Amino acid sequence: MKNFNYSIPTKVFFGKGQIEELGRSIKKYGSKVLIVYGGGSIKRNGIYDKIVSILKDRDIDFWELSGVEPNPRITTVEKGIKLCRHKNIDFVLAVGGGSSIDCAKVIAAGYYYEGKPWDVVVNPRNIEKVLPIGAVLTLAATGSEMDKFAVISNTETNQKIGTAHPNMAPKFSILDPEYTFSVPKSQTAAGTADIMSHTFESYFTNTKETYLQNRISEAILKTCIEYGIKAVNEPENYEARANLMWASSLAINGLISYGKPRKWAVHPMEHELSALYDITHGVGLAILTPYWMKYVLDENTVDNFVEYGVNVWGIDKNEDKLTIANEAIEKTKEYFVSLGLPITLREVGIGEDRLEEMAKKAVSEGKIGAIKALDEKDVLNIFKAAL
Ligand code: NZQ
Ligand code: ZN
Repeated sequence: MKNFNYSIPTKVFFGKGQIEELGRSIKKYGSKVLIVYGGGSIKRNGIYDKIVSILKDRDIDFWELSGVEPNPRITTVEKGIKLCRHKNIDFVLAVGGGSSIDCAKVIAAGYYYEGKPWDVVVNPRNIEKVLPIGAVLTLAATGSEMDKFAVISNTETNQKIGTAHPNMAPKFSILDPEYTFSVPKSQTAAGTADIMSHTFESYFTNTKETYLQNRISEAILKTCIEYGIKAVNEPENYEARANLMWASSLAINGLISYGKPRKWAVHPMEHELSALYDITHGVGLAILTPYWMKYVLDENTVDNFVEYGVNVWGIDKNEDKLTIANEAIEKTKEYFVSLGLPITLREVGIGEDRLEEMAKKAVSEGKIGAIKALDEKDVLNIFKAAL
């Protein structure tokens, strides 16, 4: 196991009614708030009204930035920064899924940066001070509510880039599973695939002696398999929503990746798909994952897949290793299908024409992936297999 420094600073208020902690929590950091949210789901399900009434009761002044796009854009971040400077905002509150939270993070970081906001996305070293951020989570998927990452799109350059800074981690996040009851089936399914993919990215590495991290990863995967389908079929199943919500935070907050290399594979590939075709992140991951697994499976990696097949899918450990590995990959694919997710790129409108361009960009900073390093040719092969 590699050395690591443990730090997961976000305070989490988990469960029914935890929104009551909002006013007190904001007041620790500021009194002039920018609320950042998406296309209006929080108005339809009542979360917006609840938050506004809390802020008013507490005499907290607030302004709003609405319309954050799924795959949030740098232009929206720029609007937010302007508003923050103009109104002397001292706290940024994201209400929504990963897109609203990521947008809020880069607004908060860009506020103190004098150059172009896109610079803090391209190069995290431009980030120093960051306005304090809080989040009210409404969709279990990205884990942005408890991590230091943000992913922003630039439609002028067709780029979608992740940035990170410890100061961008939310000071607190409110996780009320009931707030995810209204998430549509398709987003619930995509969110489940995203949580599983974050787990796979840390689970499938060559690092030895990370027994604990691997068992926690398997618990998260089993939780997604058990409850993802339940949440899709019964949107108001509290137990299912609660387990998924906590899994979303634990899959990416560092817990399962400490002591391991952070060299992801499927995410950089998917970010090229959603940069160019604006598809839902979790859908892209669900399509690519089984093809990536098949591609990296060989005599050096087969034991990792046996571990996965036996411990997560309960496949008989006495079977032949390659049989177990292939069965595990097949079960992964079948599970995504059962959630109603597509399994080919063509189903989401992606054809052959720009695969080469995307493969090149996916490895622009070098080979990707921890269990098997992939170059441009490998990525292209995976894209082609997924067509
Ligand atoms: O915009 P509104 O109207 O709020 O609707 C959203 C949006 O259409 C809707 N939604 C959210 N909560 C809802 C709801 N609808 C009904 N009821 C609710 N309670 O769901 C749609 C998708 O929302 P979005 O925030 O885009 O989804 P998600 O949480 O999956 O975030 C995706 C973004 O996060 C990035 C992705 O690349 C993508 O840009 N990621 C961020 C990461 C991070 N910060 O650590 C890591 C991830 O790997 C990922 O890359
Ligand atoms: Zn993801």
